[in-house]
Amino acid sequence: MKQSYLFTIFGSTGDLTARKLLPAITELIKKSYDIHVIAVGRRIFNDDTYLTYMDEKTTQPLNKTVLKDRLHYLEMDIHDPLHYLNLKEKQRSFLNGKTKRLYYMAVGPELFGVITDGLNHAHLVKKDDVSDVVAFEKPFGEDLLSAESINALLSKHFSERQMFRIDHYLGKEMIQNIMMLRFANRIIEDSWHNRSIKKMSVYVKEKDGILSRAGYYDKVGALRDMMQSHVLQIVSLLTMDIPISYYSDDVKNEKVAALQALTIDDSETVLGQYQGYLEEDNVIKNSTTETFVFLKGFVNTPRFKGVPIYMITGKNLDEKNAFIEIEFEETSEQRKWHLPLSTNRLRINIAPEDGFQLTLNAKVPGLREGVQQVKLGYDVDNLGVGNLPEAYEKLLLDMMEHHRTLFTRWDEIQASWQIIDLVLKQEKNIYTYKDYHDLIAYIKDKTGETLL
Ligand SMILES: NC(=O)c1ccc[n+]([C@@H]2O[C@H](COP(=O)([O-])OP(=O)(O)OC[C@H]3O[C@@H](n4cnc5c(N)ncnc54)[C@H](OP(=O)(O)O)[C@@H]3O)[C@@H](O)[C@H]2O)c1
Repeated sequence: MKQSYLFTIFGSTGDLTARKLLPAITELIKKSYDIHVIAVGRRIFNDDTYLTYMDEKTTQPLNKTVLKDRLHYLEMDIHDPLHYLNLKEKQRSFLNGKTKRLYYMAVGPELFGVITDGLNHAHLVKKDDVSDVVAFEKPFGEDLLSAESINALLSKHFSERQMFRIDHYLGKEMIQNIMMLRFANRIIEDSWHNRSIKKMSVYVKEKDGILSRAGYYDKVGALRDMMQSHVLQIVSLLTMDIPISYYSDDVKNEKVAALQALTIDDSETVLGQYQGYLEEDNVIKNSTTETFVFLKGFVNTPRFKGVPIYMITGKNLDEKNAFIEIEFEETSEQRKWHLPLSTNRLRINIAPEDGFQLTLNAKVPGLREGVQQVKLGYDVDNLGVGNLPEAYEKLLLDMMEHHRTLFTRWDEIQASWQIIDLVLKQEKNIYTYKDYHDLIAYIKDKTGETLL
């Protein structure tokens, strides 16, 4: 019997389903995975009108030919336990002895409890059985306490092995590449410690403001929205020690150890809010929500003790760009050369470009002595491999095949909230910035650090 997959999506009329889930599922169906989707919603649709509605919701048209026979709409009230029996009935026609059921919570966390209770009530989930799994998205709470209560709700009916916490950044090609780059290259692995690395910086810059998302963003801010999840995940991959194996749990043990060893230097923290934020629709008057964060931290492990780690993220900046910059120490010989030598740098581009570049000193060709900085690079896009899986396609496939490395384990969430909670507890001084150049000048003045 062929392995088949049944997705049940709660929140099937939302933005996440339209822009990310349905296009990713389409690509997987095109690759011959046997997938059916039950789209649960409270609006009145049939399969055809639902597909048309979702198609109109997205700027990129959905592939209706592929989705037509695979997407099945079910109108139900998620608060009514009896309606889960209708879901059970609907599921029946798509289940064979080898069907994996994947529940996707494309709704806010306040609905997780009612949905998982409903599923349990109708015996639609078997705790500990990995042929029933659940996926949900950040925000994983707004602090450690609320994250714990969300986790407790889900843990009633799903065990940790059945939970897939989605941080779509982990599906990005170059994030997946960090471990390979570090641990499968002798020259990098040999230099990846505090004797060779001078500093590390992680940038996740956004050019847009909050667009129409004030309702969500004004309650959350950059620390909770980006720092707790994407940025700390990247830092843990950069600073973890070598895992004893590349099985998911061994990798995560090292990531958690790195996060637990991370401390933030409070005196250097900068929180900012872009000029004009208070005039955005639905932002509360006098809001002190930060739209920019600069943190300086240290991972106090033998490998990294003393190496400053800069974490920068924000909105309304000069460009949309996510990258990592590693600066290496000078060589002991470097000062003897009376030439403008620079330190070596490794830049890992995450988005929109993906690849990496190593900057080295080289002699200028010719008769005279001179130095130039040359770049050795790997550019994923320029390789023409084409058809790189979108982050969600990769994440959904890993869920289907139960590969857990790219998903966040509960203790990673716990460790990252412990870091962010401490920052949130500090007295909030918000700098209002005109633009990125203004921030560069302010941070230079306050911390001595020059932003890229
Ligand atoms: N969009 C993204 O790219 C993205 C990225 C990361 C994380 N997330 C997270 O994913 C979740 C969904 O995000 P989204 O952007 O898709 O939100 P959205 O566009 O607001 O959609 C929310 C969905 O939940 C349904 N819903 C809301 N309240 C309901 C209720 N009381 N009963 C039944 N259904 C209800 C809505 O149904 P109606 O259409 O009937 O209102 C809609 O289908 C959120 O937790 C968000 O933070 C989203």
